[in-house]
Amino acid sequence: MNRLVNEFVKEKVASTNQKYLQNVLTQEVPERLANQLEQMNWSYLDMIHHKENQRGTFSPLGAMELAEVEANHDRFYAVGLEAIRQCKVGAILLAGGQGTRLGFDKAKGMYNVGITRELYIFEQLIANLKKVTDAAGVPVPLYIMTSDKNDADTRAFFEAHDYFGYDSDFVKFFVQEMVPAVDFEGNVLVESEDSLAMSPNGNGGWFSSLMRAGLDADLKEKGVEWLNVFAVDNVLQQIADPVFVGAVIESGRVSGAKCVQKADPHEKVGAICLEDGKPSIVEYYELTDEMAEAKNPNGSLQYGFGVILNYLFRLDKLFAISDRQMPLHIVEKKVPYLDENGNSVKPETPNAYKFETLILDMVYLMDDCLPIEVERSKEFAPIKNATGVDSVESARALLQQNGIIL
Ligand code: UTP
Repeated sequence: MNRLVNEFVKEKVASTNQKYLQNVLTQEVPERLANQLEQMNWSYLDMIHHKENQRGTFSPLGAMELAEVEANHDRFYAVGLEAIRQCKVGAILLAGGQGTRLGFDKAKGMYNVGITRELYIFEQLIANLKKVTDAAGVPVPLYIMTSDKNDADTRAFFEAHDYFGYDSDFVKFFVQEMVPAVDFEGNVLVESEDSLAMSPNGNGGWFSSLMRAGLDADLKEKGVEWLNVFAVDNVLQQIADPVFVGAVIESGRVSGAKCVQKADPHEKVGAICLEDGKPSIVEYYELTDEMAEAKNPNGSLQYGFGVILNYLFRLDKLFAISDRQMPLHIVEKKVPYLDENGNSVKPETPNAYKFETLILDMVYLMDDCLPIEVERSKEFAPIKNATGVDSVESARALLQQNGIIL
C-alpha cells in the first residue's frame, strides 16, 4: 500500500533539501518507507557536524590482576557457580552486527571456523557456555540479540542445528533497532524503492531492545539478577564464567569488565580508565601517544588493560539507568544505496555515516565497575577480519592452541 508521508517529514525533507527523497514531497510512497521516515530521529542530521563526543578527564585505572584472581580462584568460583545454580545469571549474546570487515554475507555466528570439520562460531560459543552449565547442572538463560538483517537466518540456523545441544527453552531471541544511514552531506540514503538504507543502531541499545521485546518480564520471572553480555566474534569467549561472576559479586560492585593486557600500547582496543573519577573506557583513538605509552613504576602500561567485550551488569542498576541518554557515535561505513535516478551504487570506500551507541559507554553510566584481568591466550580470539590481525587465521591458531580440534 502506498501513502503520503506526514507534514513533519515533508517539512524536514524540504528544509534539509534531501537529495534522494524529493519524491515524498509530492507522491505517495510504500507504507514501509513512509513508516521509516516518520519514525526516524531527524535530530541525528544535526549531529554529523559535531561528531566528537564530549568526554571527561581521563586518568589510569588498574584491574584485578591474574595473580590476585588465581589466589582467590576457588572462592570466586564457588560464589559464582552458586549464583548460576540459583538462576541469578543470564547471558546476552550480541549478534546484531553486520560484520562488514569479515565480509561474510550471513550472520557472523554462522561462519564456519572448522578446517577438517564444521565448527560454527555459534557452536563454539555454545560449547564454551555448556562447560559452565554442565558444572552447574542448570542451563543459563541465553538471550540472543539479532538485527532485522540477520534475525530470520539466525533463528533458522539455531533450529536447524538443534541449538547445538543447548536447552532451547532457555534461548530467546530479540531484535535490535535500526537507524537510517546518511551520506557525508547529510542526505538520508535509500536502499530500495520501499526502504531507507537502514543499519543496526550499535551494540549499546541492547538493554532497551531487550525491554522493548518484553524480555524484562522473563528475566524477572526467572529471578535473574546479573547479565553477562558478550560479543559474537570472540571464539574463546568464556560465558557466565563463575570466577568472573563470583569476583564481581564479592566486590560489591554493580558491574565487571573482563580485560586483557594490551598486545602493544597502540592496540586498537578500548582501555579501562577513570573518567572524571568513575570507571570508564577510553577508546584507542582518544588516547594521545603520551597517554598510550605512559608507564607505571613497575613498567606496565598505565592504560594497559584492554576490554574484550565481556561485561557483567547488575540488573537492578541497568533498570535504574535505562532512561539515561547514551553518547551517539558517528562512524564512516560503506553503505550501498540508490542514486537520484534509481541506480544502485555499491561504494568501494566509505560513503556514509552510521549512528551507533556502544556498550562500552555503559560502564561509565553504571557508576562502578570491577575490571578483571583474564589470560589473553585463553580467552581472547576475536574474528574481525578475514586475514591478519584479529582474523579467522589468528582465531584458528588460538583455538588449536587451546586444544580445540578444527
Ligand atoms: P563490532 O564492533 O565488531 O561490529 O561488534 P560488527 O558490525 O560486528 O563488525 P564490523 O565493524 O562491521 O566489521 C562487536 C559486537 O557487537 C555486536 C556484534 O555482533 C559483535 O558481537 N553488534 C555490533 C551488535 O550486536 N549490533 C550492532 O549494531 C553492532
